[in-house]
Amino acid sequence: MTQNYIEENKKRFLEELMELLTIPSVSADLSFKNDVLQAAQFLSKNLEQIGVENVEIYPTSGHPIVYGEKIISTDAPTVLVYGHYDVQPADPYELWDSDPFKPEIRKTDIHPDGAIFARGACDDKGQMFMHLKAFEAMNSTNNLPCNVKFMLEGEEEVGSENLEKFVREHKDMLSADVVLVSDTGIINNHTPSICVGLRGLSYLEVEVTGPNRDLHSGLYGGGVANPINILSSMIASLHDDQGKINIPGFYDEVLQVSDDERKEMAKAPFNLENYQQDLAVDTVHGEFGYSTNERTSIRPSLDVNGIWGGYIGEGAKTVLPSKAYAKISMRLVPNQTSADITSLFENHFKKIAPSSVKVKVTPHHGGEGVVIPTDFKGYLAAKKAMNKSFGVDPIPVRSGGSIPIVPMFEEVLGLKTILLGFGLDSDVIHSPNEHFGLFNFYKGIETIPYFYEFYSELMKN
Ligand code: BES
Ligand code: MN
Ligand code: MN
Repeated sequence: MTQNYIEENKKRFLEELMELLTIPSVSADLSFKNDVLQAAQFLSKNLEQIGVENVEIYPTSGHPIVYGEKIISTDAPTVLVYGHYDVQPADPYELWDSDPFKPEIRKTDIHPDGAIFARGACDDKGQMFMHLKAFEAMNSTNNLPCNVKFMLEGEEEVGSENLEKFVREHKDMLSADVVLVSDTGIINNHTPSICVGLRGLSYLEVEVTGPNRDLHSGLYGGGVANPINILSSMIASLHDDQGKINIPGFYDEVLQVSDDERKEMAKAPFNLENYQQDLAVDTVHGEFGYSTNERTSIRPSLDVNGIWGGYIGEGAKTVLPSKAYAKISMRLVPNQTSADITSLFENHFKKIAPSSVKVKVTPHHGGEGVVIPTDFKGYLAAKKAMNKSFGVDPIPVRSGGSIPIVPMFEEVLGLKTILLGFGLDSDVIHSPNEHFGLFNFYKGIETIPYFYEFYSELMKN
């Protein structure tokens, strides 16, 4: 019944998603504040249309949170669905083959049935919207076996600060048995997987100041510290020649993954040659002694996300700049804590600065990593659901990305999260030409009702 309803309405589901994707809900850029609100309004209207009750847009000091629920019975288990309707900035616009906010369907080698190209198509509007449509299908056919609570936020891409407050202040309203999120991916369209780990994050900005003003690089060059030169060598010193991060104490809390678990992880299909070819690199790079998959999931990393200073306009300007800047992110693994790593970095970075410059470190957002067990009812239901829709068991995979609100759900609400994502790495989230396969969108809508069905069955005994 539910699956028939989906089949009959799939065209409209896609049209509705396309409309949501035209709204440029970029949370990082306040000039889009009204668009973020519009996306919230679109969702609250849609939630009401599909039969969700008590729908409300909760304002915050940043972007709003959309909440709604459908309680069928106090005896039924409750699923808290979380998703985010904010998106990353679309820049650089010139690298998009179509307007990031005029969704277009095109075929690709990986998506022969077509994919929707738009900012947020995969991360996370497309994936979040699957939950609304799966709910619609279950509810319209009187097949909803669980209570459902929807919590959709507009600040995931900027750190979920207000959501954290909201969760702490609405513990009763949000009480549930499990959290269900689609904001991750699968290995490929024939190889389903369930994300069972996310890395934590510590993100900061550094400013290095040399002389009190920009100088003529001929008159002063060679005699005064150049902050860009200094910053570059400070950054270079943050890794040793084994690819390890060179900050004292950085690895102290890292939970070493057992050899058995590493062997298990290595069974997931991965082709290094394809990986290198896809990225047009002759060889991969990273910490000695670990595979590429391990380097990007169970090991921490440190990367410069942006670096600037001096003259970067056209032609040449001979200048010895006063300041240099960089944005640096560190991906963390269990048991590292974001705040501790940030302060380790800050102390170290100040310590290695020569006295010819001054250093300022400004922390941005952060969050903790998480590992999700594979032996509780939520996971078992997700596994059965994926097996039913894909025809094979999903592989548990730890991902390198971060969703800081997930460990928060555990800490504040005592709830485990199922990361039932359907995106592909090749969907290039956060990059130009982000897209989401139609196969993946519909597979998600098909799988979610199975999850509810199996979860309610497992919770009965
Ligand atoms: N959905 C992503 C995270 C993700 C993607 C995890 C794919 C696993 C697989 C999320 O929207 C995201 O981009 N998170 C940010 C962190 C946030 C604090 C800005 C990230 O990982 O950079
Ligand atoms: Mn996301
Ligand atoms: Mn994202």
